[in-house]
Amino acid sequence: MRIACISDIHANLPALEAVLADVRAQSPDLTLSLGDQVNFGPQPLQVLQLLESEGIPCLLGNHEQRVLALREASDAALNAINFASVRWTMQQLAGVDLNLPLNRRVGEVLFAHAGAENPSLRLDDLDAVREELRALPYPLLVCGHYHNPLQHHAQGRALCVIGSVGMAENGVPGTALYALVDQTPQGVHVTPRIVPYDSGRLYEAFRSSGILDMCPIMSRVVHETMTQNRCMVMEFLAHVHAVMASCGADAIDERVWTLAGNTFAWRTGQTVSAYWGL
Ligand SMILES: [Fe+2]
Ligand SMILES: [Fe+2]
Repeated sequence: MRIACISDIHANLPALEAVLADVRAQSPDLTLSLGDQVNFGPQPLQVLQLLESEGIPCLLGNHEQRVLALREASDAALNAINFASVRWTMQQLAGVDLNLPLNRRVGEVLFAHAGAENPSLRLDDLDAVREELRALPYPLLVCGHYHNPLQHHAQGRALCVIGSVGMAENGVPGTALYALVDQTPQGVHVTPRIVPYDSGRLYEAFRSSGILDMCPIMSRVVHETMTQNRCMVMEFLAHVHAVMASCGADAIDERVWTLAGNTFAWRTGQTVSAYWGL
């Protein structure tokens, strides 16, 4: 039994298309998407439509959870300026059912976004991971959530992070990550795959999608992350908090956010407006 696992597409359609072409060549029995199909990138609806047309079941990621929480107005923090991409994504996905399952078991392997029942499980928290594996009724949990491959072993069980399709942080520009999980009578084998794709198509996708009207600064953080395969999100948010402290502000308001965008050490220079040609 061969299962192709894709995860963390983050609305990056060119990366998904390239990965699905590679998946077809591997002839899996089943393909699963392990959550974070949407948010950050410019083509959330197109990504979900492609997954549906290919008959690929999707699991719930913490980013789908954010869209659901925003729809239900159950998390006031999501109205802050730093969550503008979630609000834009929610607008694009009006009427789309995002009540996805938390996990799926196939044979002796459980697939989930992060923890079996927790799409936000911190995978760098060794105590939390050990606790997760202690409670796991199967020998292997395959998940995404963190954007580079990672493995933990404890309690005679293993947790295997496969990395991200749309926001890989492997330092190799223009590549997407996924994995093949083969279950045989001899055991389970996880084979990482790295797929080149045309990340140059993303710039126009951001520009034509309308996302820049709502969140040009975060979109630049995301675009640079997607095209350089180096995470800038945490680096930028650390800068935002430093700006907030230097301003004496007690929240990330528009002034703090704009100042952070104007003073961040962008890898490619230019102001945010010049970067997008606005
Ligand atoms: Fe993610
Ligand atoms: Fe995630």
